[in-house]
Amino acid sequence: MTAKEWLEKAKNEKWAIGAFNVGNLETLKAIVQAAANKKSPIIIESSSGETEWMGADNIVSLARNFSQDFGIPILVNLDHAENLEECEIGILAGYDLIHFDGSKLPLDLNLAILKQVVEKAHAKGLTVEGEMDHIQGSSEVHEGSAEEEASKGKFTNPEAAKKFVENSGIDIFASFFGNVHGVFSGRDENLDIDILDQIVAQIPLTYLSLHGGSGIPDDQVQQAIQRGVVKVNVNTEIRQAFKDSLEKVLAEHPEEYAMYKIEKPLLEAVQKIVEHKIEVFGSSGKV
Ligand code: 13P
Repeated sequence: MTAKEWLEKAKNEKWAIGAFNVGNLETLKAIVQAAANKKSPIIIESSSGETEWMGADNIVSLARNFSQDFGIPILVNLDHAENLEECEIGILAGYDLIHFDGSKLPLDLNLAILKQVVEKAHAKGLTVEGEMDHIQGSSEVHEGSAEEEASKGKFTNPEAAKKFVENSGIDIFASFFGNVHGVFSGRDENLDIDILDQIVAQIPLTYLSLHGGSGIPDDQVQQAIQRGVVKVNVNTEIRQAFKDSLEKVLAEHPEEYAMYKIEKPLLEAVQKIVEHKIEVFGSSGKV
């Protein structure tokens, strides 16, 4: 099944596909193992830095190999590519979904580039995601309040979202309604479900993504999915599980130099996070 077919199925059945960021082979292995255990389709994704570190071709090849080995659908998403060249690299490498993030650009320039991405990606049958209002935060662990971070940006105006979708021809719209990237010590991340409802009403045929999937209370994520979100992006909680576990195993095994021999707990920590998200998103057993 194509990315679009999976998104349509998720939309009709009111569940969401998790889009999990990968910055190394260990994380990827753990995500795939979690999806296989839960019999869930997944999206793996790479941000600009992760794509550069791993190599776009490598990410696609690894996804295809793991998909075959584990017998689960693995779609590949280019996450927050900020220029046309990056999108072209993703399209050429065989990514299934392309997210062009022009939210830091003036609207007309964002749209102009997005239209080119849509043309190139649709010619290959790929799915395109656009972002109009910059989603605040970054995929790290922050001291402070998520709500304060969210207030630095401008929440999505539903009517403007309609125009943006009509003008660009995108398949997926990334909305900003309280979701921020990262985990915040204030533990006060809060979605404005009213705005989400208004967005759904304006663009009922467009797939909706929820960025900043780390740190949002599970019940709020589930509410968003019931209202129409079909793709939830998760990075920070994975990074956090990996790093915390890495520090622990290194402290416990100062004599070991063959890292793969002590990395099992790292994979298990990431796997646990991903399995939990899959349950929350309702994609378990969908394969
Ligand atoms: P988090 O880091 O908050 O999970 O967000 C990830 C994301 O939205 C990637 O696009």
